[in-house]
Amino acid sequence: MIIAAPDFSFERAGKIAINMGVDSIEIATRIFPNGEVLARIMDTSLVDGSDVLLFHPTYPETNYRLFLLFQSVEALKYYGAKKVMTVIPYLSYSRQDKRFLEGESLSLKLFLDILHNIGVDTLISFDVHNASALKKYAKMKVETLSLYNDIIRYVVESLIGDRKFILVAPDKGRLDTVKTLAKSFSCDYTYFIKERDRYTGEIVVKEADDIGKVETAIILDDEISSGGTMAKVAKRLKESGVDMIIAAAVHLLLVGNAVDRLYNAGISYIIGSNTVDNPYSTVEIEGKIASLFT
Ligand code: R5P
Repeated sequence: MIIAAPDFSFERAGKIAINMGVDSIEIATRIFPNGEVLARIMDTSLVDGSDVLLFHPTYPETNYRLFLLFQSVEALKYYGAKKVMTVIPYLSYSRQDKRFLEGESLSLKLFLDILHNIGVDTLISFDVHNASALKKYAKMKVETLSLYNDIIRYVVESLIGDRKFILVAPDKGRLDTVKTLAKSFSCDYTYFIKERDRYTGEIVVKEADDIGKVETAIILDDEISSGGTMAKVAKRLKESGVDMIIAAAVHLLLVGNAVDRLYNAGISYIIGSNTVDNPYSTVEIEGKIASLFT
């Protein structure tokens, strides 16, 4: 097996390659003056007859990176890759898993169909927004890895220690995850009911239950994008007297002024993984990817 990665992620791919004891090849990327992009495998001699693990984060600059990903798979297949296994740590378009409004595109299905049609044999990703939609639409083999447990363990060991805490699901979509984790970390849990206006994006949240007297809370979500969901839930928790609130999520997109929004809502810490690279990404995925193959 060999690892391939675009230049913008090549250093990280190198860590996976070292962990696995295999070679890595760089895929150079360029943009033409008209905005079109081009991927080029820098050493095609290693590709022929090999299984290739293509490490290709698609966030930020999603649409640009996606087209490079499609080109990379096409070129790897052309130069004789036996199998192409693509790692997309944060699965783009995973939130558009249905046609919410009349006339919309079903982007998740489209994206997965493209990957299948260009020859991706296996898709590897982390904590996808809606696992059952992924299962329904993916025609290739899919491996999803989970980081929720690692993130909560990190928060407990480095920030909370022996203090009592509650796990909070910001909406019903995360309730099962939080319930399972509460059992393994022997803590209480609760959840919020969230409604989003599909035209304006405006969110309204309310407690599903009375949370009682709690000093420390971890709000856990699959992703933080604009920070709107976490900020709204944090404000309600603050009003109920919670002192320390930690915003934890696997994918920290942190779009625009999300970080300020979270701190202004009373959140003390932001913790996540490096499925998306940023200063708050403390839990690393490189070792997990390598361990799939060693
Ligand atoms: C949606 O249901 C997801 O699980 C997250 O709650 C959502 O994507 C977070 O987005 P934002 O940070 O923009 O509220």
